[in-house]
Amino acid sequence: MKILAIETSCDETSIALVEATGDLNEPKFKVLKNIVHSQIEIHKEWGGVVPNLAKREHLKNLPILFKEIGTEDFDLIAVTVGPGLEPALWTGVTFAVELAQRFNKPIIGVNHLEAHLYSFLLPEKDKTPVELKFPAIGVLVSGGHTILASFTSLTEFEKLGETRDDAVGEVFDKVARMLNLSYPGGPEIERLAKDGDPKAFDLPRPMINESGYEFSFSGLKTSVLYLLRDQGYYNADGLKPTSESKKDIPLKLVQDLSASFQSAVIDVLVKKAMRATNEFGAMSVFLGGGVAANQALRQALKEACERNGLQFVCPSMEFNTDNAAMIAVAGYISHLTGHSHPLIANSNLSL
Ligand code: KG4
Ligand code: ZN
Repeated sequence: MKILAIETSCDETSIALVEATGDLNEPKFKVLKNIVHSQIEIHKEWGGVVPNLAKREHLKNLPILFKEIGTEDFDLIAVTVGPGLEPALWTGVTFAVELAQRFNKPIIGVNHLEAHLYSFLLPEKDKTPVELKFPAIGVLVSGGHTILASFTSLTEFEKLGETRDDAVGEVFDKVARMLNLSYPGGPEIERLAKDGDPKAFDLPRPMINESGYEFSFSGLKTSVLYLLRDQGYYNADGLKPTSESKKDIPLKLVQDLSASFQSAVIDVLVKKAMRATNEFGAMSVFLGGGVAANQALRQALKEACERNGLQFVCPSMEFNTDNAAMIAVAGYISHLTGHSHPLIANSNLSL
């Protein structure tokens, strides 16, 4: 079947047309079109996503993107219902419901987090998708979420733990802002970390040795801030940077801090994921979410899996950050299981 998918949970407006075949044991996908319109340039000047600006842009872009898809030949509509920014989510849900009425098609509500986790099912061009071995540990690292989950099959999973405070992508973005880097911070930190020394600063690895699978990253963020303060780049009292002092952070320090910070985050994620594979007898690990674009994280998890004789699977690069193709995948799986989320924007929807 052909699935028209719509994603507007945050700052990307995306519509995709995906051909889906197969059953739950072997679902297969062919991305016919995946148009992603990023609003980064608009939100950049605010240092983060402004919900009402996102809503305005989605409203403007959705009809344009649908026109670009250029066909009414689809069998099912899949739309993100949450989690995300509520005003942004509503634009997609409303648009999808209108299309469903106009073309008399069935519609399915999709959980954005499931979609990130299933994004490894989208093959790179001309490549056959890998077959995931179960049981598996899923690692979801995005701007809003950090979740470890144990999967006994594609559709049977248990959430093991999540972050108590900042999500991994969020902490990349916040540390980037402290370093005067632009939004979104993750790719910037990764770029600068390449020329930095990951051992330059001995930053904490929060909760790395604690039992359970919860995470906490706000302490790590504060450590970076204190380090900058102690070196004179932030005020001692309110910790607020002066615009002049921020500009003065030398490149070498930014590179070393980026590398040290990134390696602390990766150590925590890899250690906990590996502990989970051990406890649950997993045969594989798969990664999803915007931070899955981070090559250092992919490489570290891959190497840890290889050392432990596990399969490692991650999405091809174009499907890490928000996109509608992954919404089609989750929509198809929901279609096969017969489970759809209500067509109501739900900003707090969880896994
Ligand atoms: O999944 P996503 O597109 O949106 C959410 O569902 O949250 O993730 C966006 C997050 C941002 O915080 C961004 O900084 C981070 O993913 N990100 C990265 C990289 N690319 C995007 N973080 C680290 N390294 C990257 N290369
Ligand atoms: Zn996302």
